[in-house]
Amino acid sequence: MNSKQPVTVIGLGPMGQAMVHAFLDKRHRVTVWNRTASRADALVERGAVLAGSVEEALAANELVILSLTDYDAMYAVLEPASHALTGRVLVNLSSDTPEKTRAGARWVTEHGGIHLTGGVTVPPAGIGHPESSTFYSGPRAPFESHRPTLEVLSGTDFRGEDPGLAALFYQIGMVMFWTSMLGYWQAVALAAANGLSAADVLPHATETMTSMPSFLSFYSARIDAGEHGGDVDRLAMGMASVEHVLHTNADAGVDTALPAAVVDIFRRGMDAGHATDSFSSLVQLMKKTTA
Ligand SMILES: NC(=O)c1ccc[n+]([C@@H]2O[C@H](COP(=O)([O-])OP(=O)(O)OC[C@H]3O[C@@H](n4cnc5c(N)ncnc54)[C@H](OP(=O)(O)O)[C@@H]3O)[C@@H](O)[C@H]2O)c1
Repeated sequence: MNSKQPVTVIGLGPMGQAMVHAFLDKRHRVTVWNRTASRADALVERGAVLAGSVEEALAANELVILSLTDYDAMYAVLEPASHALTGRVLVNLSSDTPEKTRAGARWVTEHGGIHLTGGVTVPPAGIGHPESSTFYSGPRAPFESHRPTLEVLSGTDFRGEDPGLAALFYQIGMVMFWTSMLGYWQAVALAAANGLSAADVLPHATETMTSMPSFLSFYSARIDAGEHGGDVDRLAMGMASVEHVLHTNADAGVDTALPAAVVDIFRRGMDAGHATDSFSSLVQLMKKTTA
């Protein structure tokens, strides 16, 4: 008899599908449900069971993984079947803000379920690999008892009992991911305007990205110590540099929204009197609320 824990997966976008494949690879019995049922076809061919309704999917197993676009989608899917949440451990791997995950956790708890928040840090291709990582937060005991099954999906990084913490760590990564990738798209557009392909600039782009960890460790120690001295770099130098970037892009005729936003932030740092400080002093600017 198969002693692996059976699991339900609700939400079969690219991520949910990868999760079902990972569970099937490890011989877990999997029940699935998705708004667009046809997205389950290939999974059913591999042995997953397609539930006829959300209620049926929830009733099938204690452990239920949610992989939806966001928490609004969770309410859209689960509200009509909320009576079936009692006794379920809902591992919500849909991303959203920390506040929305806290409210979602309260809602699930009020309906008799247990909510664990998750934040997956890899794309679908990283699912099923122990070196990949997912943040979790929520009640520790159910997390620990289901950890072996969750580790089929990726390594687990439990951040604490506040349901918002996994989402917070996820968002800390995402603000860096989206802005870094936008920087790369900008570089590719600039290269293209000058007759260079993405492949032509890949080695230089890779070298630039690979240099980042040393900047992070150098500046994080100084930031935590409140040091923003201009001994290594000065904001005024950065100001001139980001203006070169803006003008290079403008001269090439490519979109300048991103480099102009960067110039704007540097300009605000200059106006706040940080010209002779490091550009890490921009953190001080960003920490301030609009009040
Ligand atoms: N893809 C990635 O690289 C990646 C990486 C890390 C984290 N994540 C996170 O993982 C989660 C899932 O990712 P994904 O790429 O699979 O997302 P996705 O393409 O947005 O699909 C998620 C699922 O949500 C369902 N859905 C959305 N709105 C719905 C609604 N109102 N009612 C019912 N179902 C609804 C979709 O159903 P239908 O099939 O019927 O449209 C689909 O099954 C997201 O929160 C994402 O931020 C994704």
